[in-house]
Amino acid sequence: MRRDHRKKPSGVGIKGIGAYVPEAFLTNSDLERMVDTSDQWITERTGIKKRHKANPEQATSDLAREAALKAIADAGIKPTDLDIIIVGTATPDMFFPSTACLVQKEIGATKAAAFDISAACSGFLYGLSIAEDFVRAGKYENILVVGAETLTRILDWSDRTTCVLFGDGAGAAVVGRVGDGHGIISTFLGSDGSMGDLLKLPAGGSRMPATEETVRKRLHYVKMEGNKLFKAAVKAMVNAATKVLDDSGYRSQDLDLLVTHQANIRIIDATAKRIDISDEKVYRNVHEYGNTSAASIPIALAEAKQKGMLRDGMLVELVAFGGGLTWASVLMVW
Ligand code: UT7
Repeated sequence: MRRDHRKKPSGVGIKGIGAYVPEAFLTNSDLERMVDTSDQWITERTGIKKRHKANPEQATSDLAREAALKAIADAGIKPTDLDIIIVGTATPDMFFPSTACLVQKEIGATKAAAFDISAACSGFLYGLSIAEDFVRAGKYENILVVGAETLTRILDWSDRTTCVLFGDGAGAAVVGRVGDGHGIISTFLGSDGSMGDLLKLPAGGSRMPATEETVRKRLHYVKMEGNKLFKAAVKAMVNAATKVLDDSGYRSQDLDLLVTHQANIRIIDATAKRIDISDEKVYRNVHEYGNTSAASIPIALAEAKQKGMLRDGMLVELVAFGGGLTWASVLMVW
């Protein structure tokens, strides 16, 4: 009899998923009227066609709340069943209280402890990995993991190299026991702080507190070295994707669905090509939302599920990359 050397799922995984994006959006032609750019450049270089934008009264916790309520309903639990709330975000409502605490109040999760994690676009997968370990340790049953962003609030709308790329949105998952044969098989987290300058928001923290000068110099906006980041992104995503597969005894051809961070269609395509996975198994929605940072993977998962592309028993891989630099991957049976 042939022994199966492949690692088994932990029985802890995603019980419910939900997403929310604000109604308003900007098309590439809208941006053509704001900066020196073109629909052709944006489409060819990034794949993005539109990006959603929060209303002036909406902050990150408002988007997170909507996604959270959908995930909780999808899991068939009540907000009071939650033990922990983890929010991954680079655009919190404010320094403190944490966005997770604001969500805890908004949804009435009175039993839950709450905290944010700062891992930029990898925030949701960092949160998913933490949540899996918490549940596996036996102390907690239901953990809400949210990726939520209002990146349009920290974009310099006169900088064409960044303002065309990002959008607002939120996605959430309830992590808990999902039964034998299901759930997370392996997770991998990584970082390289030496390349942190490639993507940052320089001012407003303790290094460079807000002053009239920092505002005048536009230092409260996203600064990015896109080209260097692009190369680092492909390398890190390929390594992260390969790592959890190798660790678990699987090959990329075994995957039913690959959901990567949606930053740029060329990064997604290059990653998929290098790990050698067939095209129809790769989820892409960057054209619709732009780069929503920590929200991109849970939005994609919720959408894939709704479209019937994410079904019971599927082998799914999630891969993220972001500022920090940070990267992460998760292999699971849905
Ligand atoms: O979420 C994780 C973090 N983010 C990422 O992973 C993003 C990674 N980087 C990228 O996606 C790509 O590098 C970009 C989409 C940002 C840029 O694409 P690129 O092919 O790397 O272009 P580039 O930065 O090398 O710029 C090429 C040219 C430049 O003009 P010159 O110097 O060749 O004359 C830019 O000034 O394109 C110009 N350019 C634009 N032109 C029209 C830059 N932005 C725009 C624009 N419209 N919006």
